Amino acid sequence: MRSSAVRALWSAAFLTLLSLALALPCLAGEHGKAAEPKRGILLVSFGTSVPEAVAAIDSLKSQAEAAFPGVPVRLAYSSKIIRDKIAGEGIKKSSPAQALSDMAAEGFTEVAVQSLHAIPGHEFHDIIATAKAMEGMPKGMSKISVGLPLLSTPHDIDAAAEAILATLPKRAKGEAVVLMGHGTEHPANAAYAALQLALWKRDQSVFVATVESSPSLEDILPALKRQGARTVHLLPLMSVAGDHARNDMAGDEDDSWASILKSKGFTPKAQLTGLGSRPAVAKLWIAHLQDAVKGLDH
Ligand code: CO
Repeated sequence: MRSSAVRALWSAAFLTLLSLALALPCLAGEHGKAAEPKRGILLVSFGTSVPEAVAAIDSLKSQAEAAFPGVPVRLAYSSKIIRDKIAGEGIKKSSPAQALSDMAAEGFTEVAVQSLHAIPGHEFHDIIATAKAMEGMPKGMSKISVGLPLLSTPHDIDAAAEAILATLPKRAKGEAVVLMGHGTEHPANAAYAALQLALWKRDQSVFVATVESSPSLEDILPALKRQGARTVHLLPLMSVAGDHARNDMAGDEDDSWASILKSKGFTPKAQLTGLGSRPAVAKLWIAHLQDAVKGLDH
C-alpha cells in the first residue's frame, strides 16, 4: 500500500476513535446511570459425584450464610467432569463462569468468590482467570474479589495444622494418622510438604500423602514403620469425603490405601469425613471468605 493511502487510513481511524471518545461521555449521561450496588457470595467447590459427600459443601454454604446475613450465597462446581457426570443423574450445577454470569444478569455488582479447594492449584487459578474476565466484561460485575484456598499462606498452613489436629480422634501409642490429599503437578503441590512440616512440629504421628503426586503413600510407609505405628487412621485432606476418599483411600480394591496398609501389617481405620464437615477447619475457609468480602471494600 502506498504511504499516502496508509496515512489516509490512519487519519480516518483516528477521527473515528476521536468521535467515539467524544460521544461516550454523553452516552453515559443518558444511559450510564451506575447500577445500585448489590453484593453476593459465590462458593466454588471442586464438586463431588458422591451424594453423601454433598453435606460437607452444604455445611460450608450455611456457614457462609450465617457469617453474612442477608447476602445471597451461590455455589458452583469447578470440575467439568463432575458437572457432566452428575448432569447425567439429573443434578445440575453451574460452572464458576456460569454462576457469575447468572449473578450479573440478576444485578449483582460486587461478588466475593471463595475457593473451597485445599491448595491454590489449577482449579484456583482458573477461578482467578474467570473472575478477571467477568470483571472486565461490559455489564459484568464492577468488582470481584477472590478468597484463597485453605492451604495458601504460611499462616494458613499453621492454622490448618492446628485445626486439623484439633479434630483428630484421641489416639493411643502405636496409632498414627494419614491425611489423604489430592496432589497435583502444579507448583502449589508444595503446600502438602509445608503442611506436613507444620503438623510434625506439633505431632510426629500425623502424616500427609497424596493420591496423584508427592508425597505418595509409599513415601511415608518407612516413617510409619519406624514409629512402630500399628493402627493407621485414614482421613481425606479434601473438603469432602468423595470418590477419592471412598475408593482410593477406604475402598476394598487391592490398590486402595486401606488395602495397601493392611497388606503391610497395619490396621487401617478410615474416617469418611471431609474437612468441610470439621468445624475447626471449615472456620478457616469462612475466615478466607471474610477476607474476600473485605477485598470488595477497597
Ligand atoms: Co481426582
